[in-house]
Amino acid sequence: MTERYAVIGHPVGHSKSPWIHARFAQATGQDIAYDRIDAPLDGFERTVDAFRAAGGRGLNVTLPFKQAAFRYSQELSERARRAQAVNTLAFRERIYGDNTDGVGLVRDLEINLSRRLAATAVLLMGAGGAAQGVVGALLEAGVARLVIANRTVQRAEALAARFPRAAASGYGEVRGPFDIVINATAAGLDGEALALPGSVLASGTLAYDMVYGRDTAFLQAARAAGARTCDGLGMLVEQAAESFFVWRGVRPATRDVLDGLRGG
Ligand code: ATR
Repeated sequence: MTERYAVIGHPVGHSKSPWIHARFAQATGQDIAYDRIDAPLDGFERTVDAFRAAGGRGLNVTLPFKQAAFRYSQELSERARRAQAVNTLAFRERIYGDNTDGVGLVRDLEINLSRRLAATAVLLMGAGGAAQGVVGALLEAGVARLVIANRTVQRAEALAARFPRAAASGYGEVRGPFDIVINATAAGLDGEALALPGSVLASGTLAYDMVYGRDTAFLQAARAAGARTCDGLGMLVEQAAESFFVWRGVRPATRDVLDGLRGG
């Protein structure tokens, strides 16, 4: 029997998740259907209740509902508890909440982009939902130095305080060099550049924007400084693969799907 899954968010019309999960299902022979659900801002819980009542088995949760999904969960994975955000819901006997964003980012960096994280210095820009989902996974991957920088420094301090070995900073005070600089802010979306000191981006640096499909001001500035750049499309595919594994117990291959999305 076909089992139902979906991505829930607002807006969600341009989500690539249905296409990605359809490819995973085809490649692994799993009989699933995967839709998009645009939930009203004040209607996350009732929308999920209705999906479950109709037999839905799991959801990917995207902006702005990852904290709501955290609260909706009856049981949490360790990584979701650390992130205090949920991007994957599985409807089992209880409502299971997981977070696959961090492992998705780490796999994209380490496998797709061949950047080993152990013993590296990483700058994470942003302290909102996107940033908090990945701090635990970066530390677990063995980064030697993790600095969280944010426009509102207090938010960076609050996030860093939840993790041993993470430091907080304002943008003006960040001192490089870093092997990897990750943009987890919403700043790229309106074309506004972040005020970073010159020592942060160098020719050997990988500048990674979690946003995908856009040449953000951050990526443009990084390229001008001679850094290698990458958007977040690989993270999207890798977090999807991990969610698929949580639901189905089968780990799909990601390379062809990522190549397909990049038009390769
Ligand atoms: P998300 O869940 O997408 O991370 P969020 O929780 O609203 O959304 O966080 C947005 C992040 O982008 C924050 O780190 C925010 O910085 P502040 O905490 O100082 O608000 C950052 N951000 C958004 N617009 C920005 C801008 N124009 N310049 C710098 N940082 C910006």
